Amino acid sequence: MKKILSAVLAVAMLCTCVLMFTACGGNNSSAASDASSKTEAKELHMATNAAFEPYEYKEGGEVVGIDADIANAICEKLGCKLVIDDMDFDAIITAVTSGKDDFGMAGMTITDERKQSVDFTDPYTNAVQVIIVNEKDSPVASADDLKGKSIGVQMGTTGDIYVTDIEGAKVERFNKGADAVLALTQGKVDAVVIDNQPAKAFVAQNPGTKILDDPFENEEYAICLKKGSELTEQFNKALKELKDDGTIDTIIKKYISE
Ligand code: ARG
Repeated sequence: MKKILSAVLAVAMLCTCVLMFTACGGNNSSAASDASSKTEAKELHMATNAAFEPYEYKEGGEVVGIDADIANAICEKLGCKLVIDDMDFDAIITAVTSGKDDFGMAGMTITDERKQSVDFTDPYTNAVQVIIVNEKDSPVASADDLKGKSIGVQMGTTGDIYVTDIEGAKVERFNKGADAVLALTQGKVDAVVIDNQPAKAFVAQNPGTKILDDPFENEEYAICLKKGSELTEQFNKALKELKDDGTIDTIIKKYISE
């Protein structure tokens, strides 16, 4: 009787283990085995750059924002604990391809070039690149004026990529968007090209700057994962549910009022 009981217990425990693994993103696949120690702790590690309000920024030492909230909602659906790993924006893709982190989420635009190294989920929101200038005596009044000017960007972003293509432009690359905007206020660059929502936050923090009504390059943000990761499908399923039940909208409205 005792033997039967312990056998039953053993099987039950085994089942629980298997369930735990699949509940936490199916990381029991060999493709994700380098993250298996994390899986046992039921954690999913997110690579981000928390200097991009309202998508990810620090509040009292904690990373908050639209991406952090959406990531938390996805992890909750997958039965995992979210761990946020803050780094420079241009380190995120390598963190994901190397398996150091399970996914990257950082107001990251889907681009063909990035698709060569990572997989993207379906997009969860849209954005647009805008130009920030000084309110007074700016030599830049439209996107066409960017030719031959010095332009600040956050290193490795799509803003960096677009501006690099502009004829005669002198591109000044900063680790943080905030540093690019600081350089603008100090007259060290003529303009900053960056995503519209963070641009609003930077302008609010830097009186004397403004956003031009001449946006260019519409973009879509998505989560990036290691190529071939089984998590991508699970993330897409979770994202769809969160879109359909209005959670994503509610999260975005919590941070963006209009
Ligand atoms: N959307 C732009 C890109 O994908 C900028 C993203 C910057 N994000 C950040 N958390 N700093 O390149």
